[in-house]
Amino acid sequence: MPRAGFDVARVRDAYPILREMAYFNTGTYGIMAEPVLAGYLQNIARFERRGMVESGSLHREIEASRERLAARINAQPEEIALTGNATDGVTYVAEGLSWSPGDEVIISDQEHPAMSYPWQYAAQRHGIILRRFAVDWDPRKSLEAIRALITPRTRLIGTSHVTSPYGVRLPVKEICALAHAHGALALVDGAQSFAVLPIDVREMGCDFFTGNGHKWLGGPKGTGFLYARRELMERLQPAYVGAGSEQSFSFETGLVLKPSGRRFEFGTRGFAVPASIGLALEWFDQLGWEAISARIQHLATYLKERLAALPGVELCTPPEWERSSGLVSFRVAGRNEQELQRQLEADHLYPRTLGPGSEKIRVSCALFNDESELDRLVECVRRFVGTPRSR
Ligand SMILES: Cc1ncc(COP(=O)(O)O)c(C=O)c1O
Repeated sequence: MPRAGFDVARVRDAYPILREMAYFNTGTYGIMAEPVLAGYLQNIARFERRGMVESGSLHREIEASRERLAARINAQPEEIALTGNATDGVTYVAEGLSWSPGDEVIISDQEHPAMSYPWQYAAQRHGIILRRFAVDWDPRKSLEAIRALITPRTRLIGTSHVTSPYGVRLPVKEICALAHAHGALALVDGAQSFAVLPIDVREMGCDFFTGNGHKWLGGPKGTGFLYARRELMERLQPAYVGAGSEQSFSFETGLVLKPSGRRFEFGTRGFAVPASIGLALEWFDQLGWEAISARIQHLATYLKERLAALPGVELCTPPEWERSSGLVSFRVAGRNEQELQRQLEADHLYPRTLGPGSEKIRVSCALFNDESELDRLVECVRRFVGTPRSR
């Protein structure tokens, strides 16, 4: 891959879609930089054209991806299961721990279905009692809300690091400490924080951290990971196993699973996909992780300042960087968000709505966006607010 460094114009050159539109939906699907895509396509072609001959080299690249991912979040490679998405990681925990009826799990009221569905399902299957705390912009209030729900039966607290609809950054280090103080485990969903904020799972103190490679990292779609503290990874019982899960197997002595995250990885897979996570990590290494984070901070702050100054526009994301991330959500009260989205798209601006009737739009500020795109978006919103509503 050619050397990049964080030169905005050169970075933007690596994302050709930006010549057609301002892409503001990294929080849903990331887009891949051209050098990463070139390597990824080569990996697919190698495997599809040459089959078994390439499987050894692809497996070495998968292991290299695992090592780099682990190092990026200060984990050991054995503590990483490579998954298909962030949701997989939540499911591995929800279905991999053993539960007794009446065990309690606490999650937030701003969870993506990635978190809320697996826990609701586990509640229905295992008799877990699921409680929800209200996310507040003020981290102390979120912590108080959790504290009020903890009982002697609380087994786990699960929360997004950065919430999906409003981009609120939760005080995850304190939440993990609170869980541990009450003998519970802590699961953090980093789908909206990994590759934006620095992640150090030891410093955070989480037991489990789930993330993906296909949003902010711009890796292949269908890539994710679950970090589980070493001794917990060994305790997680996969619902499915197969060739590759085993440490040892015989019908006489039984099946012993690998003590690492590899127990979840079995059977023939699209090996070129996880093998190519390393390419996306390399792209980020070249640009500089801190520089990327600083760039996203700058863009999100730039946008929030301008949106907040528009009459009739209400920010749904905290203005402070320490309480937020790359997502910026806003509401135009009394106005139809689909209509605003249509006007934005007519101007080649592609954020997303937060659903019919929500009156809200979510803008993902990614490493490749720039101020002129944000100015165009703000101008479009200003015009929209200034025009009478259509009947
Ligand atoms: C907080 C959060 N968690 C999980 C997900 C889903 O991630 P995945 O599709 O990788 O499972 C999203 C996607 O929008 C999200 O915002």
